[in-house]
Amino acid sequence: MAEKTWGGVFNEATDRRVEQFTESVSFDRRLFAHDIAASIAHAQMLSQVGLLTPEECRQIEQGLEAIRLEIEQGKFEFRIEWEDIHTHIERALIERIGDVGRKLHTARSRNDQIATDLRLWVRDAINRIDVRLLDVQKAFIGRCDRDAGVILPGYTHFQRAQPVLAPHYWLCYCEKLQRDRERLADCRKRVNVLSLGAAALAGTSLPIDREEVARRLGFESVAANSLDVSSDRDFVLEFVFTLAMIAEHLSTWAEEWILWSTVEFDFLKLPQAFCTGSSIMPQKVNPDVLELTRGKTARVVGNLQTLLVLIKGLPLAYNRDLQEDKEPLFDAFDTVDSALSLAAPLIAQTELNLPAIAERLDRGYLDATTFMEYLIGRGIPQRTAHGLVGRLVRTAMDRGVRLADLPLTEFQAAAPDLDESVYGVLGVEQAVAAMQSYGSTAPAEVRKQVERWKKRLEI
Ligand code: ARG
Repeated sequence: MAEKTWGGVFNEATDRRVEQFTESVSFDRRLFAHDIAASIAHAQMLSQVGLLTPEECRQIEQGLEAIRLEIEQGKFEFRIEWEDIHTHIERALIERIGDVGRKLHTARSRNDQIATDLRLWVRDAINRIDVRLLDVQKAFIGRCDRDAGVILPGYTHFQRAQPVLAPHYWLCYCEKLQRDRERLADCRKRVNVLSLGAAALAGTSLPIDREEVARRLGFESVAANSLDVSSDRDFVLEFVFTLAMIAEHLSTWAEEWILWSTVEFDFLKLPQAFCTGSSIMPQKVNPDVLELTRGKTARVVGNLQTLLVLIKGLPLAYNRDLQEDKEPLFDAFDTVDSALSLAAPLIAQTELNLPAIAERLDRGYLDATTFMEYLIGRGIPQRTAHGLVGRLVRTAMDRGVRLADLPLTEFQAAAPDLDESVYGVLGVEQAVAAMQSYGSTAPAEVRKQVERWKKRLEI
């Protein structure tokens, strides 16, 4: 009984099954470095306000540093009866430096301690994911020069629609991931707030200096309501939502490239190092990394769902339910982190199959819409032009030819004042070249955007 940090009031020992059910050290040990950093800042503040002597503070700091090293070297003993990472470190400290260690938990509760550790951890995780996203963006931008001028079919409803420059596709993903980076930066502001000093729920009667702790830990501000910060995990949810959004974006890319790598599309050749084979079909080279990128999105979304349900209807302030926030958080982070780390090299090393793409670009009447716009430019109302081009496409389809293969008489039968200049707008190259709106796939616009991205990402 004396074993527990909270054992004073208890007359009976904890049931072993309860220890197993309630422990968190099997997963929250991952917070050890952040827990120690927060404890050191806390001790230094305690010493500054006179709740510890400088000598006591020095001993605590040294003890904590030694424990950090022990954990890093894998020499630290974890036991589930010591519940969580906070208790482990505190116990180890007391074992190492004696009674002085018993002062560390002054003006602090595990409730504000865990909230602080998590905020420090999420802050680092945000920084890491941001770098990963930047790497993926750079991989796409790197392709833009390589694939400049390459035309791909663009799709809606997964049917061939209009021609699009390959870099326009790559920049599309850069835009999506940029919004994810902005979401991370915004979330970081709300993460970067000091919880410590909220104590259990009500604050403390001891003369602590929270500003000082915030400064030492690099927090931008101090949480203004002790009930609020010890009870909420909204910052965890925001981060996991952003991870889910990143996973969703990656899953669209993965899906697209899986399709593009099939014999049916044959648009690209994935690097073999990022594919795996079949145990029965000797010829198979499967896009498993892309499939798992798509598949693992499910667990990230599941983790978000878990967290949303977890906090629903919790009364104020701290409830032990909140311990269940860590595994979904860690899993969401690990999943997205690893998917991003594979995405960047996969994007860079994939080759477009230019002859196969070009060979079939003439199919699907990708130039029909710009042809219609050409007619609008000649004064034909849009609805009329739409019907007219539709009929011409039908004629070409029936003959199994491109629009550009129809004789002028055919165009003139549709609209008498058409002349040879129609052939100047037909075909995918001319359809792309005809584009001019901001944000379109117009070659000049895309070039400008590539330059803008290079500047923005400092490439
Ligand atoms: N392991 C706990 C958690 O992750 C730490 C806080 C425990 N607080 C408590 N009063 N039992 O939430």
